[in-house]
Amino acid sequence: MATDSWALAVDEQEAAAETFGKLNLKGEKAEKPKPESNGTEEPESAEQIPSKDGGKSEDDDKEDKAAQSLLNKLIRNNLVSNTNQVEVLQRDPNSPLYSVKSFEELRLKPELLKGVYAMGFNRPSKIQENALPMMLAEPSQNLIAQSQSGTGKTAAFVLAMLSRVDPANKYPQCLCLSPTYELALQTGKVIEQMGQFSNIKLAYAVRGKKLERGQKIPEHIVIGTPGTVLDWCSKLRFIDPKKIKVFVLDEADVMIATQGHQDQSIRIQKMLPRDCQMLLFSATFEESVWRFAQKVVPEPNIIKLKREEETLDTIKQYYVECHSREDKFRALCNIYGSITIAQAMIFCHTRKTASWLAGELYKEGHQVALLSGEMMVEQRAAVIDRFREGKEKVLVTTNVCARGIDVEQVSVVINFDLPVDKDGNPDNETYLHRIGRTGRFGKRGLAINMVDGDHSMQILQRIQQHFSKKIAQLDTDDMDEIEKISK
Ligand SMILES: Nc1ncnc2c1ncn2[C@@H]1O[C@H](COP(=O)(O)OP(=O)(O)OP(=O)(O)O)[C@@H](O)[C@H]1O
Ligand SMILES: [Mg+2]
Repeated sequence: MATDSWALAVDEQEAAAETFGKLNLKGEKAEKPKPESNGTEEPESAEQIPSKDGGKSEDDDKEDKAAQSLLNKLIRNNLVSNTNQVEVLQRDPNSPLYSVKSFEELRLKPELLKGVYAMGFNRPSKIQENALPMMLAEPSQNLIAQSQSGTGKTAAFVLAMLSRVDPANKYPQCLCLSPTYELALQTGKVIEQMGQFSNIKLAYAVRGKKLERGQKIPEHIVIGTPGTVLDWCSKLRFIDPKKIKVFVLDEADVMIATQGHQDQSIRIQKMLPRDCQMLLFSATFEESVWRFAQKVVPEPNIIKLKREEETLDTIKQYYVECHSREDKFRALCNIYGSITIAQAMIFCHTRKTASWLAGELYKEGHQVALLSGEMMVEQRAAVIDRFREGKEKVLVTTNVCARGIDVEQVSVVINFDLPVDKDGNPDNETYLHRIGRTGRFGKRGLAINMVDGDHSMQILQRIQQHFSKKIAQLDTDDMDEIEKISK
């Protein structure tokens, strides 16, 4: 039932968006003269009106073109200034993007180098520069690596996997685990893009993927979520685990934590050959998890951040004091009324709150999408694709999207509920991952926490103490102040 209601909610939301686009959009705007300072709304609304409605005049077309050209210009400007900013950071020894070497000096195969440049990368980031030589050394060595959110861990381990594959052997040689379906798909895309000039094939071991029983798959790399990968290795025997040379755990801390996917990940690991290379990556490793990682990974190389290095200075953090859920919603609307937000991700503690909030935002006229774990996989994929393309500007979600999701245009992350563990204590790791959905690869980002009541204030203070990083108060009734933070 729960699944149905979520699935239905998304369906209805999308269907409704189209109907409004066709019938009511302009009328509705006229009725609601509320100044929409979110400057990104207009071109989207235009796009939502299907061209087959036949009601478009030449003027409308001209307007569309002008808007489109302005938009392109803005996007180009943004790209140029971002490239400059990245270059500055890559020359700053204090930045996590700092590097002294070029990709050539990392001695990648020519076809992979071509793949890297095709993705628009000029120089490696610090983690790429440090981890790649360790991962490519012979004989192979294990690695547990920590690097801040958005600093290019994916490309680091993807290049390692692609380098180790022998395309002549038509069976899986590298296995990569992701904690969620969306992240597995996203990482798979990076593997496909980086490997586009090499003859390397990829299989997705994710929910909903059906293969004929009794076969062995010929793809060289398998990316997937733990449950399906485990089935493919054991029950269904699509993969011969004894032939795996590289085993990657992305978001490794959650993959080996008792509250995470520990059982499945460790069962998979036990089926692999003793000398299989293990690569563990994450932005966070809580102390106990760090110790466990070192226990399960033999003689690892280690790249570890100091606590004070974990947060990114490029992400500004604020909190807003509220008194109830409705109050938080009002504060959220005030923020939206005051600053231009390219795209935002809003995190809620429960699916129920997420659903309620998405509904309320929708009523306010926001192009909002909803994503939670209980939705059907096809719908989850569709929702995230639409958000990536900017068709919806706001994604209301739960912790299912807290890790790894890389959408460059996300300029604001809002913790509508602060992240807490099952005992109600602050979940510092999830906090860091959530705010890390913005400020990707040198971009600036804004993280706003909604606090409601004493308990929630204590949680915030403990998060502040944990990272020794000040989270400043923001008065959402003061428009000028909100405007200032976005500058
Ligand atoms: N060397 C590079 N030059 C330019 N852009 C890069 C480079 N490496 C990675 N990127 C880009 O940086 C963004 C963030 O990378 P990625 O998703 O791998 O981060 P991450 O370290 O895995 O973060 P998270 O901890 O949130 O999962 C991606 O859009 C990626 O394309
Ligand atoms: Mg990642």
